[in-house]
Amino acid sequence: MMMVVCVLASFIVKGKLVQGWTAGHATFYGGSDATGTMGGACGYGNMYSAGYGTNTAALSNALFNNGVVCGACYQIRCDDKKAPQWCLSGKSFTITATNFCPPNNALPNDNGGWCNLPLQHFDMAQPAFLQIAKYKAGIVPVVYRRVSCKKTGGIYFTVNGRDYFELVLINNVGGRGDITATWIKGSNTEWHQMKRNWGENWQSDSYLNGQSLPFRVTSSNGRNLTMLNVVPSNWQFGQTFASSLNFK
Ligand SMILES: *[C@@H]1O[C@H](CO)[C@@H](O)[C@H](O)[C@H]1NC(C)=O
Repeated sequence: MMMVVCVLASFIVKGKLVQGWTAGHATFYGGSDATGTMGGACGYGNMYSAGYGTNTAALSNALFNNGVVCGACYQIRCDDKKAPQWCLSGKSFTITATNFCPPNNALPNDNGGWCNLPLQHFDMAQPAFLQIAKYKAGIVPVVYRRVSCKKTGGIYFTVNGRDYFELVLINNVGGRGDITATWIKGSNTEWHQMKRNWGENWQSDSYLNGQSLPFRVTSSNGRNLTMLNVVPSNWQFGQTFASSLNFK
């Protein structure tokens, strides 16, 4: 009886420690310098200039949610109770969701179809994976939790597209990391809401050439940031501008 109580007690303590963590799996892709992880379904393009470096992962459908979580941060730990031989014990690492890991329904969920529904899978950039597990592991069980994104500097805005079709890439977002709504205003226009085109590329169909462009963004926790004086009136398509503000 005494024995049972002790076992139960230690189980409860462990349960408390991992509170808020969810079980999933992780693999890696790309090379040691993150080659092969550039671009991706969130539209961030070059991971280094976008501020993410190699601290990134592609998420399975169950997590990616059609790009709604682009920019969100997850702390990931290899589950060394399940795979002590493959895990770097006690290590965790935080990645930003920058890509989509597509399902492969030709392969079974437990043998190559890691990103099939309903699996919660992180296909991590190789250097990120090697922070929590051994290279030879290939695939490891993990536990993960959503955490606040710690970013240096302000939110970046890259204005792509063409006349009457501005496609604004928003990245380096702190706090919740993901954006749920965006507004733009030309010096000659009213504030108007942009719509998500793909990933973190937001679209306006206004004529904004030659106008300075303030932005307002809403994070997934409902907080807003209004950034005046981000883009000066002499902006050109393809240029990136850093605001001085960010979510914490
Ligand atoms: C953020 O902005 C939206 C749209 O203008 C508004 O509905 C919402 O109340 C704002 N949230 C906060 C916390 O101010």
